[in-house]
Amino acid sequence: MCGIFAYAGRETQAADMILDGLRRLEYRGYDSWGVAVRNNGGILTEKQIGKIGGAQVRMPESTAGFGHTRWATHGGVTQPNAHPHTDCSGRLALIHNGIVENFPELRREVIAAGHQLHSQTDSEIVVHLIEDALARQDGSASGVEDAIREVFARLEGMNAIMVLDSASDTLVAVKNGSPLVVGYGAEENYIASDASALLPHTRKVSFLSDGEMVVVTPEGVCLKDAESGEELEPEVTELDWQVEQAELGDYPHYLIKEIHEQPKIVREIALTQGDTAEALAQLVRESFGTFFIGCGTAANAALTGQYLFSRIARFHVNFEVGSEFGYLEHFLTPRSLVIAHSQSGETIDVIEPLTRAKKEKGVQVAALVNVLGSTLYRMSDFNALLNAGPEKSVLATKSYTAKLAILTLTAYAMDGRLEEGQELLLRAADLIEEQLSEENAGRIAELAERIYEKENMFVIGRGLSFASSLEAALKIKEVSYIHAEGFPGGELKHGVIALIEEDTPCVVFAPKDETHGGILSGAQELKARGAYIIGVSPEPSDAFDYYIPVGEAGNASPLVNAVPAQILAYNLALKRGTDPDKPRNLAKSVTVK
Ligand code: F6R
Repeated sequence: MCGIFAYAGRETQAADMILDGLRRLEYRGYDSWGVAVRNNGGILTEKQIGKIGGAQVRMPESTAGFGHTRWATHGGVTQPNAHPHTDCSGRLALIHNGIVENFPELRREVIAAGHQLHSQTDSEIVVHLIEDALARQDGSASGVEDAIREVFARLEGMNAIMVLDSASDTLVAVKNGSPLVVGYGAEENYIASDASALLPHTRKVSFLSDGEMVVVTPEGVCLKDAESGEELEPEVTELDWQVEQAELGDYPHYLIKEIHEQPKIVREIALTQGDTAEALAQLVRESFGTFFIGCGTAANAALTGQYLFSRIARFHVNFEVGSEFGYLEHFLTPRSLVIAHSQSGETIDVIEPLTRAKKEKGVQVAALVNVLGSTLYRMSDFNALLNAGPEKSVLATKSYTAKLAILTLTAYAMDGRLEEGQELLLRAADLIEEQLSEENAGRIAELAERIYEKENMFVIGRGLSFASSLEAALKIKEVSYIHAEGFPGGELKHGVIALIEEDTPCVVFAPKDETHGGILSGAQELKARGAYIIGVSPEPSDAFDYYIPVGEAGNASPLVNAVPAQILAYNLALKRGTDPDKPRNLAKSVTVK
């Protein structure tokens, strides 16, 4: 949540470059945005509410500054609440990601000290505390660092802050939650909340760990321990990502671009991740109790994994959503294996219980994660990197199918049938490609035309398709704002069927597996009550009012079923005029509780 981009170097139009960096990060938060640059020994800021869109900043020449895209926590979406926030003297500006949990008492202290507050945020309090700490010191550049360290130690919760000191062209960042990446250029250096924003400038990066502080000037980068102030040796990583992976190219939206990338990603996983699947399978075999966790779409992948392991490997694994996992930690022992599923590797509802389970119960942690260097990546004993490339649409699509592909492969590896799993994935990749054909996508666009004015929808599936129904409903509701609910096919008649009215759209996943007969009976029951049945199946049926053909994918049906639902969600968003990449109230990478 919240995008951060900072620059110190030779570029004299720092503000434009920062705004460009923010555009690349806007998917992380888009309530409001702001930029601050150093100018004539002081600070200039510009802040606006809403998305950046085609906005420009009209700021004088400057060689250092930073910007922030906000996802509101404390205080509404207003211009004063947008970051950066400045101190009373105008020497310091601050941007913040996280929640200061002891905000009320710190706010009282700041008000009692006579500071003028201009916002309702917890963030603004921090810059005034630093101002006071600095006033107690000698005012030098290292004085700023010490003041930041002193104040940061007082903040409760998981936070990342960055300060621009106009007296010295210095940027200081410190974190104990929320990602920060340092980028190294030639006489210019950067800090961003996501490495993909640095790609146009540099591939040489360092991922900051919790408890680290970094001091960035045009001349260099100095890494320190935030507690002791002692200098540390940064670990520099060379990224092999391509700029185009993070750009729209010819597509109108990232959502549809990323949907189209799926066949290639699934193929790559089939061809290159066999060893990863074998190694992960071995960890599962050796553990005494394996727990799959994740949030949102990642939870739907993890739940599918539970069914895949049962069906393919005849092996029980436990599933829980990340935000509830913390309440089930009593079961854990040092022999437990927790496999965390996360695109960003930063989701607080996963990281927090996982950190505790590791620290207090000594569990082993494995991750299915997309972002190299993320918090989850760094805390895991074993990583299965999804290699899906940067996912910029707020809706998770390709990271979902990539997780399903690795889970499918691992389940086959568990059963000593890795090659069979690889062949199945290659077939699934072809079937996904078929789904993306103009003809199939056109059928789905026609369906969107037919149902886009509805306010309620249901999606059902059984067995392997149960989680597909949850995922389809999540995609539809988050981007089109149509209320959509996914259910196990057998559950509707236990209550939810009361909501079915004449012409209520109901998507029915009916693969040709052991669920086929049962799910069609469920569809008939819905139809008998007036529902408009949309069948997603390799075979047409009398029960369907609208038929979306999908190829027969066997145990890979969750991968193939995901795609028509994604395309439907995209088309519903287009018809309803919502933003397919940045739906309201959401943000990519949920780093606050
Ligand atoms: C839905 C979506 C979210 C994320 C969830 C977890 O399209 O994107 O539900 O899946 O917030 O995020 P990660 O995978 O980054 O942990």
